[in-house]
Amino acid sequence: MANSLLISLLQIYLLFLSFSTCALGLAKFYVVDLHDLTSKNVCSPPKDMEKIKSVKPTLKIVDRQGPCSTLHPAEKLSPEQILSNDQSRVDSIHHRVSAIAGKGTTSGPLSPSQITAQSGFSYGLGNYIVHVGIGTPSKTLTLEFDTGSDVTWIQCKPCQTYCYKQQEPIFDPSQSSTFMNVSCNSTPCNDVSGNFCEGSSCLYGVKYGDQSYTVGYYAEDTLTLTPDMIQKFRFGCGQNNKGKGIFGEIAGLLGLGPSSESFVSQTSDKYQRVFSYCLPPVSSSTGYLNFGSNSDTSNTNRTPMKPGPFYYYLTMTGLSVADKTLPISPTVFSKPGTIIDSGTVITRLPPDAYQALKSAFRENMTQYKMAQSYSILDTCYDFTGFDNVTIPSVGVQFENNVSLDLDSNGILYPISNTQACLAFAGNSDPNDMGIFGNVQQSTFNVVYDIPKGEIGFSPDAC
Ligand SMILES: *[C@@H]1O[C@H](CO)[C@@H](O)[C@H](O)[C@H]1NC(C)=O
Ligand SMILES: *[C@@H]1O[C@H](CO)[C@@H](O)[C@H](O)[C@H]1NC(C)=O
Ligand SMILES: *[C@@H]1O[C@H](CO)[C@@H](O)[C@H](O)[C@H]1NC(C)=O
Ligand SMILES: *[C@@H]1O[C@H](CO)[C@@H](O)[C@H](O)[C@H]1NC(C)=O
Repeated sequence: MANSLLISLLQIYLLFLSFSTCALGLAKFYVVDLHDLTSKNVCSPPKDMEKIKSVKPTLKIVDRQGPCSTLHPAEKLSPEQILSNDQSRVDSIHHRVSAIAGKGTTSGPLSPSQITAQSGFSYGLGNYIVHVGIGTPSKTLTLEFDTGSDVTWIQCKPCQTYCYKQQEPIFDPSQSSTFMNVSCNSTPCNDVSGNFCEGSSCLYGVKYGDQSYTVGYYAEDTLTLTPDMIQKFRFGCGQNNKGKGIFGEIAGLLGLGPSSESFVSQTSDKYQRVFSYCLPPVSSSTGYLNFGSNSDTSNTNRTPMKPGPFYYYLTMTGLSVADKTLPISPTVFSKPGTIIDSGTVITRLPPDAYQALKSAFRENMTQYKMAQSYSILDTCYDFTGFDNVTIPSVGVQFENNVSLDLDSNGILYPISNTQACLAFAGNSDPNDMGIFGNVQQSTFNVVYDIPKGEIGFSPDAC
């Protein structure tokens, strides 16, 4: 009774200030309008249109399933499917990382013969799309953007084995005057994932999640990111592309990983291996992706980052709930390490760190009725009857005293109009890598500065 009275007073006090956030003594709580957690049916414009216009090149980022998307997938993925795809992606990241450490079997690069021997599909690609132009004359294509992948690829005519259905016409190399095959005896061919020669043609192959894949010719053509043109950009010209649900109408993928075949490495002369993005908080809003020293590098908290192998590695050091630092030994984080990934949805924490987070969060949410676990999320609430809910702030700390106060959309993951869950999950194995996912990154301007070996974060960017 006394406790719920305190909560009501706190809530009234917070509402009175007409801010969605405020510090009350040490503890920090947010009043969240439940309608703001879920997506609207109408696309809202970017928060800072001027910035998007002034920094070149800037690509708009939207959720491929939301109202800002130009794609019209036949069916939308449910939260359950999104979360199960997410677990497939995380499993494949963990496999790949332990394979590097010599602890498991390889996944990722594959030879085409290995790939075509696979059957059945799984999921695990990220959910944000951008538009780029390819070829001369330039054709606009919708690509998934992914910091956890290196090879850029598109579906290509003649689709020798299989192309899934995509929104835009499938790219036809014979209609582009600047298209060339990458020759077999070349460094780029040796570097590309799954490299394989067929006559003088260089083949590539990439597998995602568990079973979806793309195989084809490794090619080069002009890539247009208005107003810039990148000549001889190398990408996969996919002749056999499977993974319908995961690829869902996109023309291909823009790989922003750290390896030599990624977009970031191929454009290092032009953009100095610096890029930044802001992921929108809900699928009805718009974010941005920009490249080069023009990127928004101002006013950011920077933490050390190591590019590669395959991913961008940083060091998480702590967590806080309602501004209270949780008692977690730093070795819980440092032993497995952490990557930042634009394609993983829900942040994965080492088991001990997640335990501490969820119990502190639950202690500050006792006024709400808990609901059943939902997929990978086990701290869920039934908010039936509430318009606003008061939730504790969640802070994530990285090496170098970088502390991120997450946006409320990075704390609660909506399942329905009345139900939401704590947007974190624990790894089952304490040796599995932590992953800082896209829900938690939303609204931050995230700068990847590879030459300096740093990642920067600044809040409220979109
Ligand atoms: C690229 O290689 C494929 C496979 O050998 C071939 O069918 C195609 O004609 C080549 N394209 C060009 C422009 O050389
Ligand atoms: C939040 O949880 C902490 C313990 O972790 C507790 O001391 C504090 O009273 C709680 N505050 C509210 C408003 O629930
Ligand atoms: C919920 O909060 C918003 C502002 O945050 C306010 O306008 C609205 O009146 C609140 N609704 C209720 C039922 O408290
Ligand atoms: C870290 O930041 C806190 C406050 O933000 C400050 O008190 C402390 O001195 C900083 N520590 C270092 C090592 O910079």
